[in-house]
Amino acid sequence: MVPSENNSFPSSQSASDDNMRSALPINDARQMLDALCWQVEMGADEAIMDTPDLGSDKGITDNGAEQAANAQANTPTDTNLPNQGVTDGPAKGGSEATKIEALDVSRCQTLVELRQAAASYDGSDLKRTATQIVFADGDPASDIMFIGEAPGADEDRQGKPFVGVSGQLLNRMLLSIGLHRDQIYITNMILWRPPGNRTPTAQETAQFMPILRRHIQLVAPKILVCLGGAAAKALLATDMGILKLRGQWHDFDAGEGHILPVMPTLHPAYLLRSPQQKALAWKDFRQIAKKIEEIQS
Ligand code: URA
Repeated sequence: MVPSENNSFPSSQSASDDNMRSALPINDARQMLDALCWQVEMGADEAIMDTPDLGSDKGITDNGAEQAANAQANTPTDTNLPNQGVTDGPAKGGSEATKIEALDVSRCQTLVELRQAAASYDGSDLKRTATQIVFADGDPASDIMFIGEAPGADEDRQGKPFVGVSGQLLNRMLLSIGLHRDQIYITNMILWRPPGNRTPTAQETAQFMPILRRHIQLVAPKILVCLGGAAAKALLATDMGILKLRGQWHDFDAGEGHILPVMPTLHPAYLLRSPQQKALAWKDFRQIAKKIEEIQS
């Protein structure tokens, strides 16, 4: 997810103090709640195992805090790396490329088949911590396909993209150009919620890219809209930031000679935190409205 600028992370001093505190036996309810809140703040908001693993260095220790801080700072650690899937580069901390099996979605001929293939794909650790797959919403016959970053907590619970506060803002943005949410198709780059809403790693993005590409081919929209930098960078295979990419049409090669216009725009979650930027998003949405008029005339 797009990290909140309001996130305040404890300093390393206070993090280690808190670690010491959570290593002591906790026997009052207030302390227990305090410790739990601290873990949630650090991104440890999912129970992965039935029992706590306090003995290993992957438990809630200094190392755990470091992993959580890295995840929040969008710096993947080895424990974020999936144990199978598609990789396109060396694993962090080693020069050897990790060759892990790709999910072959080229044979999926329908969205139902693609959804089934994605749902049964075990190559991403995200599946272990998420509640369910968040595949897509809206009209699969629409000419306009929106692509977000990854599901958040509300989406994870409901199994649909953009149903939380960002989704509510997106609905209003769509209405501002005369579109109801049912008239577009919407998905995310990543189909399972990253724990603690951390930004997906480069490897996770690479892993889900073949699914997204096939998704686009099967929906066959006439316009793509990327919500936020993560989706835009992945789709356009660039390192450029969203503030540079937005506001202009780019090309996405969907294969078999289909080049689709892509408008990267600001993510609604970012706009909720930086409302002064809504004017930029409004400009982008005007361009989207103009393009819709063109393709429909
Ligand atoms: N943010 C996203 O990028 N996708 C969602 O589905 C919800 C919030």
